[in-house]
Amino acid sequence: MFEHLVYFTSAAVATWLLFKIFQTLQNRLPHPPGPPPLPLIGNFHQLPKSDLHLKLKEWKDEFGPLVFVSILGSPVLYLNEYEDARELLDTRGSIYSDRPRFEMATELVQFNRSTVMSPFNRYHRAIRKLLSATFSGRRTERFEGVQEKAALTFVNDVLKEPKQLVPFLRRMAGEVILGITYGYDVRASNDPIVAMAERSNAEFGQAVTVGAFFVDFIPIMKYIPEWFPFATFQKTAALWREHFHEATNVPYEAVKEAMARGEARPSYVADHLQDHEGPMSAEDEDVLKFSAMNMYTAGADTVTTVLKTFFFIMTAHPSIQKRAQEEVDSIIRGEDRLPRIADREKLPFVEAVLLEIMRWAPLVPFGIPHRLSSPDVYKGYYIPKNTIVYANQWEMCQNPEQYPNPQEFRPERFLDLDPQKRQQDPRQIAFGFGRRICPGKELADSTIFLTMAILLATCTIEPGLDASGQEIQPVAEFNWGLVCELKDWEFRIRPREGKGIQLLRNPHEG
Ligand code: HEM
Repeated sequence: MFEHLVYFTSAAVATWLLFKIFQTLQNRLPHPPGPPPLPLIGNFHQLPKSDLHLKLKEWKDEFGPLVFVSILGSPVLYLNEYEDARELLDTRGSIYSDRPRFEMATELVQFNRSTVMSPFNRYHRAIRKLLSATFSGRRTERFEGVQEKAALTFVNDVLKEPKQLVPFLRRMAGEVILGITYGYDVRASNDPIVAMAERSNAEFGQAVTVGAFFVDFIPIMKYIPEWFPFATFQKTAALWREHFHEATNVPYEAVKEAMARGEARPSYVADHLQDHEGPMSAEDEDVLKFSAMNMYTAGADTVTTVLKTFFFIMTAHPSIQKRAQEEVDSIIRGEDRLPRIADREKLPFVEAVLLEIMRWAPLVPFGIPHRLSSPDVYKGYYIPKNTIVYANQWEMCQNPEQYPNPQEFRPERFLDLDPQKRQQDPRQIAFGFGRRICPGKELADSTIFLTMAILLATCTIEPGLDASGQEIQPVAEFNWGLVCELKDWEFRIRPREGKGIQLLRNPHEG
């Protein structure tokens, strides 16, 4: 007995000593390279208000693939190469999967209940497990009917009012996501569920704006009560929290009521409520309803923006459009039907156009930040706990060694028959990394593909005309934010001769 105690104590002391030695060695290692910081503000003054990608490129050229800066006291690491992102965010995902904490957004408004802002903990793991049961792999295929209906409504709408491209795309994305998540039919205009989700999403954007709220820099302020003079941030937080809970609870309760009436359609929420054995705990209900709500807010903008880029590419590259149309025609010829997701393997060029869109304009150019939850050592550098880590997707997708002539839009780069020469699938970058990888990626991918194929089968997109009837060649200019979106340009859209109109009117009979 005494021997065991001695053995146990010595082992514990040895482990502790080893840990301390490791910690001391770690602390002696340098941080990854980066521009020298100023006291207190660090490198904050060097971050531009727009065109961050140019600054990051400059830093990458000077310091290499890993760039370490300090922003108002927070260590920040930019990963400019895919291999580093894979190693840190994927392989070492157990420590690189937390999210930054914003006192206003995540704590006071409680956006930490949503999937995207949840800390990496048991709650987040429960959400991801539930989401993957409906959305991962080929599981969304059973919802192809919802996707086809939404795409057809969209094509008919945009043919009538091309200027409304973005609102119609958002409506289409909303119809798909809310249909699958809640079995909900979105109204043609002023839909109340969409309005609630959009309002909360806009408030989320304001809440996470760096520098918008003092409480983010002086966390103790969060204990100031709402009635205290000048504590307007507390009143704002209470209102936004109410909106967030309303946008979460209203569609969720509607599914429960529809189930009680026996009228609920298969959906993420209905299926999980049905499959759950016995009454749900409050925690289980939160997991289900907050994850459902976040699918719309995380998914609508993204699908919209990628399809907007598709419209741009079709306007700017008529020869690419023609080749893609011919490929779609070749598989539906003689059958008089719309293309389906099952046709995908027979549409390699359309597939390559989709991949090139994801590469040429990576939607989330700097990724969604991860947070390191314990210190790490990588390539001889010390990376402190709480470092905010960005995967610089823009730089990864513009890497000329990986993608020669990266500025050029060239779908052929993904068509090489020799797998050694075929360039890396940009979806491995665009949808993020590790345990935070986008849970809507299969749904996004299939919705975008199907909409593209239906558009190609039925319509032709062309440049807009100026006052003298000349075509206006579009120029690619981006609005840079969390999401990178093309600025508007002039285009026309018309149904394709004969068959296009026929398919749109009566898609299943030709
Ligand atoms: C082309 C479209 C899309 C792109 C490029 C995209 C990209 C991303 C990226 C880069 C992330 C962050 C991953 C990371 O932290 O490493 C993410 C997270 C997320 N995405 Fe997507 N996404 C798309 C569509 C969608 C759709 C349609 C949905 C829902 C239906 C969705 C739901 C989410 C959610 C809930 C998260 C948070 C995951 C977490 O933090 O655990 N996304 N997405």
